[in-house]
Amino acid sequence: MRGLIAIVAVAALGGCGGGTDRARLAEARTLIASDCAACHQVPGVSSAKGRVGPSLAGIAHQQIIAGHFANTPETLVNWIEHPQHMLPGNAMPEMGLSHEQARTIATYLYTLEDR
Ligand code: HEC
Repeated sequence: MRGLIAIVAVAALGGCGGGTDRARLAEARTLIASDCAACHQVPGVSSAKGRVGPSLAGIAHQQIIAGHFANTPETLVNWIEHPQHMLPGNAMPEMGLSHEQARTIATYLYTLEDR
């Protein structure tokens, strides 16, 4: 019974926003501030002003990421999770993020407009 209540609670928290609910976006900002900010500019995350890699503004509209890969949600998640598997030796390190964390970050990045 307790398990059932937990499932119902999780379902309610998830809402029906397709994963773009506020809590998820807030979690993404926190992850970006700690793991990406030093190297990337990310609109909506004030500390993310890094210039080691490209700005991630408008990434949803970009066709190729990291100069090699067609920009699909799956590819973006894979890149965030395992940049060194996808392009060994590139300057973006493995951050040890879980698949779910990478998905959360990608969801946020896809909300960003060009700027
Ligand atoms: C130590 C610096 C560093 C950190 C930390 C870092 N990146 Fe990167 N990132 C890079 C560099 C450098 C590139 C360019 C790689 C290339 O094109 O070969 C890059 C490329 C990217 C790209 C492709 C951008 C484009 O325009 O093609 C995305 C998306 C990205 N990073 C997301 C992230 C996210 C999300 C995080 C945090 C989880 C993160 N990065 C953390 C350095 C970093």
